[in-house]
Amino acid sequence: MAVVVFDVQFEHYRGSRIVGIHETRPRLSWKTREKEGYFVQRGYEVECTFTDSANTTTGSPLVEYAQQTSSRSVMVPWPFEAALSSRQQISIRIRVFGDQGQFSPWSDPPSKLELGLLDRSEWKGERIAAPLGQHDTAGPSPEQLYRKTFDLSRTSCPDNIGLDVRRARLYITSQGVYEAELNGTRIGDHFLAPGWTAYDARLQYQTYDVTSALRVGVNCLAVRVAEGWFSGRLGFEGGHRNIWGEQSALLSQLEIITTDGEKTTIVSDQSWHVTQGPIRLAEIYDGEHWDATKEVAQWSSPALSSEDLSPDWEPVAILAPLARSVELTPGFAEPVRRIQVVKPVALIMSPSGRHIVDFGQNLVGYVRVSNIRGPRDHKITLRHAEVLENGELGTRPLRVCKATDVYTLKGDPRGESYEPRFTFHGFRYAEIEGWLVGATDSAGEKTITDLQYNIEAVVCHTDMKSTGSFVCSEPLLNKLHENVVWSMRGNFLSVPTDCPQRDERLGWTGDLAVFAPTATLLYDCFGIVRNWLIDVAHDQKFLSGVPPMVSPNVTVKDPRWLRKVPCAIWHDATILVPWALYLETNDKGVLEQQWESMVDWIRVLPRGDEEGRRHLWSTTPFQLGDWLDPTAPPDAPWRSPTDALMVANMFLIHSLDLMVLITSALAKPPTVRSHYVAESRLARSEFHAEYVTPRGRLTSDTQTAYAAAICLEILDPGSPQMCHAGARLAHLTARGDFRLATGFAGTPYVCEALARTGHMKEAYALLLERQCPSWLYPVTMGATTVWERWDSMLPDGSINPGEMTSFNHYALGAIVKFMYERVVGLQRLEPGWSRFRVSPMPGAELDHAAATHETRFGLISVEWKLANLLTTSSTPQAFYLTIMVPHGTIADVVLPTSPSHTQVVGPGTWTFSGTFVRGYEWPLKPLPRKSN
Ligand code: BGC
Repeated sequence: MAVVVFDVQFEHYRGSRIVGIHETRPRLSWKTREKEGYFVQRGYEVECTFTDSANTTTGSPLVEYAQQTSSRSVMVPWPFEAALSSRQQISIRIRVFGDQGQFSPWSDPPSKLELGLLDRSEWKGERIAAPLGQHDTAGPSPEQLYRKTFDLSRTSCPDNIGLDVRRARLYITSQGVYEAELNGTRIGDHFLAPGWTAYDARLQYQTYDVTSALRVGVNCLAVRVAEGWFSGRLGFEGGHRNIWGEQSALLSQLEIITTDGEKTTIVSDQSWHVTQGPIRLAEIYDGEHWDATKEVAQWSSPALSSEDLSPDWEPVAILAPLARSVELTPGFAEPVRRIQVVKPVALIMSPSGRHIVDFGQNLVGYVRVSNIRGPRDHKITLRHAEVLENGELGTRPLRVCKATDVYTLKGDPRGESYEPRFTFHGFRYAEIEGWLVGATDSAGEKTITDLQYNIEAVVCHTDMKSTGSFVCSEPLLNKLHENVVWSMRGNFLSVPTDCPQRDERLGWTGDLAVFAPTATLLYDCFGIVRNWLIDVAHDQKFLSGVPPMVSPNVTVKDPRWLRKVPCAIWHDATILVPWALYLETNDKGVLEQQWESMVDWIRVLPRGDEEGRRHLWSTTPFQLGDWLDPTAPPDAPWRSPTDALMVANMFLIHSLDLMVLITSALAKPPTVRSHYVAESRLARSEFHAEYVTPRGRLTSDTQTAYAAAICLEILDPGSPQMCHAGARLAHLTARGDFRLATGFAGTPYVCEALARTGHMKEAYALLLERQCPSWLYPVTMGATTVWERWDSMLPDGSINPGEMTSFNHYALGAIVKFMYERVVGLQRLEPGWSRFRVSPMPGAELDHAAATHETRFGLISVEWKLANLLTTSSTPQAFYLTIMVPHGTIADVVLPTSPSHTQVVGPGTWTFSGTFVRGYEWPLKPLPRKSN
């Protein structure tokens, strides 16, 4: 049979060679593609080759088979009896069969998985650190270099003929951030490992395959460790240092098995040595100082023997074992990596005579410089900023954050290169000071020319798989989409953050609460977000059930935040974010994982007021409301004309509605479900009594109020009240010249609310508006990312004077969901995409739009085009639609040419056509319900 099985995946991990995870019964997913004919999967067979977990025997591995009659291909339960154990390696192949019972070929190549160290008792190493007293922990500390040499010729190869390593694994973590080397060669390609977690609860470790890096004779394992998030400064208004500990530390275990089955383990212990490295400052906010005059020759090479170590190398201090309460976990996210290199697009001489490199893209990462020439002790300084103001770096928005990297030359005449290891910046522009090569021209031209070839930006983020694309006939919308993607990339660096450049870069809960449904369309971010949610739940426990405003919670040392301030939207993230992951993947596991966190939030949410309302928010807590509504005063972004309490109550009702759906998804006992049903009904009825007129006006007569009331189904879908609210929203939008008047709360919903209530023309007008505030205004101002404020840059090119002005915040980019769902027409109907709708809503002057989304079943693609039927007139036009429906899914297709007719199609590529009249008024659509 001509069917191919491909992309076999374990759990949500990316790729087909996974090392070091902890799932002992990993779920399996695969995709199928037929070469010819039409295939429906009736069943599958899994072949698993197991090695013994110690990997020391040389006998043939055990092979098992499991066959199932089932059409499932996504998150199929582990089909074998035995659970996997620590270090166990398996290799999986899958084949499927259809109606005739004939099997497809086995998936090829096999997918491989190896488990990490499941039990803390398997960690034999000690927590090692530099001896105390080397530095004052009140200020930043330099990096520490750790090293250990070990001789493999004696231990493993008595005859010294050769070293035949069957398997070598390095299990390693640090409190701080690290990079490891074996015999002078970098191990792995992670950036800022072990990543950022709530370190008081979870410390991630990595497993590296180092089999080919070992050699006969003396080997050297060396690790550089810096403070990173663990003990470096974090938080705004000066922040705090040493949040999780005063000292960075290292824990590592290298396990080597030779082909004859002998096992050697090299652990972190008192036999290691430590010294300070050339990185004298390694700060997330302030940047890195690499003093090459302090480089330690051969620090990671076995050529430097233990006997020859200078007195600067000290024996390490042994710290108390890692607290039992701290879980050593591989985590669930892909690592942060150096993903892309961006070359400069321009070299600028600023009015004050500074050299500024323009990378043409606001990005997150760092600058790499090569071919640096100059005398010893000469310094090259790199300062970073997202924008220019009056031709100079605009650094004011960075607040208490230096974002400056310094390289001190050692004076190598062959040239030197530098790239930071332990910091990152959000920038488009880098000012470089001290560049000497070719400085012969008094106008500085040659200097700049040389620089161009020796500088590049390195983009770093969590290595998620891109899953979405969008393109249409309006270039500004395409650019908007691209900007949203860049803002997601810039802010998904180990944890999902608010911004990547100033003295925050924190896991603000509210930002993801509004952006998560869009994020899941753009990237497979399940791993990083699930990982973060575990920390949110932990931080919440610490605050007796009130979720943190930011997680990992860097504000625990700040008495103001210890007060546990409950806040709508930000804390509703505990429900909204897992729900978004579930809808995208149909993985109920994440709902189960977060269930307690959700229940706790609803339980502690303060309710009741002096006027006897018992189910709505209490009036006492401060609310951020429709944060950053452009009509709020710039220095008081919470003072939106949309009543903040009303916004809070709409999100409360929404959260309660979702709790009802979650109880069903998780098959919780009926009493639990009925509890939330009653809560939601009572809250809704109190809300209507307080805020809604019988005809459907709201007490806050604003875009956000109507948008949220319609999309969060506070007003009954399809009811006269909702229609009236939609009409009012359309009226307000037109009256406001199609400028946006929404902040975090209303932005994701305003166009969708118009679409749902039959006002697609107004939705397009809003979407395509270019005057500020609008989505396209920043694009017309040259933005390459989404801004925090609608007017982060004012029309005259100056930076918004507000002290909180970032040029890289994803929240307002939530409009991209509308672009996929309404402009292109791709809408998820069932969790996990097993059923979706294609219902394009062409409008404005667009004559083409297309999107793709990579689901667990495979790639969905939708593309529509309008073409003139007559050369002389633009109406009517021919409408063409082409869609690709992957195996395992069903599509409901609704053409704009016959909107009341739904055609249902299965896997394959389909084309449709009809005659379309531009300007056609879109009728009220059958509404996608909240559960969609
Ligand atoms: C952050 C926001 C965040 C807000 C809430 C800001 O400083 O950058 O994105 O949600 O504070 O107070």
